[in-house]
Amino acid sequence: MKNKHVIDLEDISREELMEIIELANRIMASPEEYSEVCKGKILATLFYEPSTRTQMSFKTAMLRLGGNVIGFDNPQNSSVSKGESLKDTITVVGGYTDIIAIRHPSEGAAKAASMYSAAPVINAGDGGHLHPTQTLTDVVTLYNEKGTLDNMCIGLCGDLKNGRTVHSLIKTMSHFENNSFVLISTPELTVPQYIKDILNRSGCKYQEIPNLKDAMPLLDVLYMTRIQRERFASEEEYEKQKGIFVLDREKLTYAKSDLKILHPLPRVDEIEEDVDYDSRAKYFIQTVYGMYARMALIMTMLKDVDRTPMPRKFDTHNVRCKNPRCITQQEKYLPKRFHKAGGDMLLCRYCDDRTLI
Ligand code: NCD
Repeated sequence: MKNKHVIDLEDISREELMEIIELANRIMASPEEYSEVCKGKILATLFYEPSTRTQMSFKTAMLRLGGNVIGFDNPQNSSVSKGESLKDTITVVGGYTDIIAIRHPSEGAAKAASMYSAAPVINAGDGGHLHPTQTLTDVVTLYNEKGTLDNMCIGLCGDLKNGRTVHSLIKTMSHFENNSFVLISTPELTVPQYIKDILNRSGCKYQEIPNLKDAMPLLDVLYMTRIQRERFASEEEYEKQKGIFVLDREKLTYAKSDLKILHPLPRVDEIEEDVDYDSRAKYFIQTVYGMYARMALIMTMLKDVDRTPMPRKFDTHNVRCKNPRCITQQEKYLPKRFHKAGGDMLLCRYCDDRTLI
């Protein structure tokens, strides 16, 4: 692969993405042919934040490829509880294993990890920022269920501010032909500015609609998400936002007959249980596609991988990222790294937040 690590799905070129989707479909068609391709290889799953699907699907993916898995899902059981830095943990685990999947509550944590790892790093979710392997899951689902990744009106509903799966999906789908977006959220939970900037630059049409029923007839795809309780500053703020958007059978009567309903899961109360029996509901089959998508990704990343550790010294800026959820706020030794974003604006290389010089 062009890039060693997958922190953002943008690290994979369009051609590589299509090859991974095709490989996922070939594995799905004859899994037995792939049952030993990762024999002798070890995946580390470092989960600093809770997960059911992502962690288990990574583990199952590696086991189904004939490889092995080590890791933790409770950092309190590792040296993290003794105060070990992310850099030290990753340097060690990168030396033990062949590939690492990391989930962390801080934005930009996977990027930081990749700077110190000899083994390729996959971002399995970094705070409210990005979740590229969920997006890979989503595109494999759409490709199989819609037959295309172009010409779709994609509705995203719920917590568009804190939902990392939403950010990754918009970024990826904005690269395909003629897709448009309907953003359905309260004004408090709309997408971050950097995602709007990406949409504006891509030329994709998008509109913000505060009502799910009004949006329904427009959509080819509806991507429902839960309100991300753990990312709110207080329980009161969460209480104000929960239960506003609920997909039920009544709203589905306004939808196209070939609508596809996706959800990264877990669901809380945003899709009523009886929607599960509608043939347009694809969120459970989506989890199956996700496992094959991760098998294809692991196989692709392990091919001809360069295990030279990344250089340990990076240039550092004299400005600090102002995002309180950025990994650089906790791991103080991390070099301050930015892209120029025009004028006096800098874009943090870890979390994508804007900072004024
Ligand atoms: C998502 C996540 O962790 O961001 N879940 C997942 O990976 N399948 C969505 C969520 O937690 O709401």
